[in-house]
Amino acid sequence: MLRGLILGILLTVIVAAGSGYLILRSGIIPANADAKPGSLERFIAGMSLRATLRNEAPKIRNPVPLTDAKLIAGIKLYRKHCLICHGTAAGDAAPSAIGRGENPGAPQLASKGVEDDPEGWTFWKIAHGIRWTGMPSWKDVLTDSQIWTLTLFLKHMDRLPPGPEAAWRATTADGAVGAPTFSQGSSVVKSEGTTGKP
Ligand code: HEC
Repeated sequence: MLRGLILGILLTVIVAAGSGYLILRSGIIPANADAKPGSLERFIAGMSLRATLRNEAPKIRNPVPLTDAKLIAGIKLYRKHCLICHGTAAGDAAPSAIGRGENPGAPQLASKGVEDDPEGWTFWKIAHGIRWTGMPSWKDVLTDSQIWTLTLFLKHMDRLPPGPEAAWRATTADGAVGAPTFSQGSSVVKSEGTTGKP
């Protein structure tokens, strides 16, 4: 009786593994980036992300103070590392080419921002990236302080004070800048140390 049960379980596992292998080999599962993920895949990925965020995202307050200088430092980091996928202040009106070509697409943050999310969640997403998507992990490139600075900007993106707002509106994909706050060289970014960990 017990032997039969064990044999049955073994056989089921072997058949399931064999079917999985054959399905993969047949090419039924799309490997192309222009195939929209199905609703089951999206549901599973979303549930996994939310559960991970609940367990792992830091619960502390953003240690970077809310000042114009820090917001502008965040905008500079964003322009250097994020704008290529997440777009400019134009948002959905002029989505970035890479953002459009990804599946799931990179949200154009000026239109679909994360202002309502807890800052710890945004910090975690930037630090670790998001599995099964084109969102990279930045923890080996940016310091924690730089990631919190980016988080500060994303949290306040829809209600920036006049100086940072002008800098943000003037930020373009090719790095062109028009606001006075941006024409003072790259001192803000340098003081944040964008070239790696201090
Ligand atoms: C190569 C493209 C790419 C780059 C570069 C990139 N991201 Fe992303 N990002 C994505 C994609 C794609 C998603 C959507 C993931 C998903 O659907 O869950 C995403 C999601 C996010 C989210 C979550 C949005 C939400 O609605 O929950 C945040 C926050 C974010 N990125 C911030 C950043 C920051 C900050 C940078 C720069 C340091 C950055 N990303 C660079 C592709 C990119």
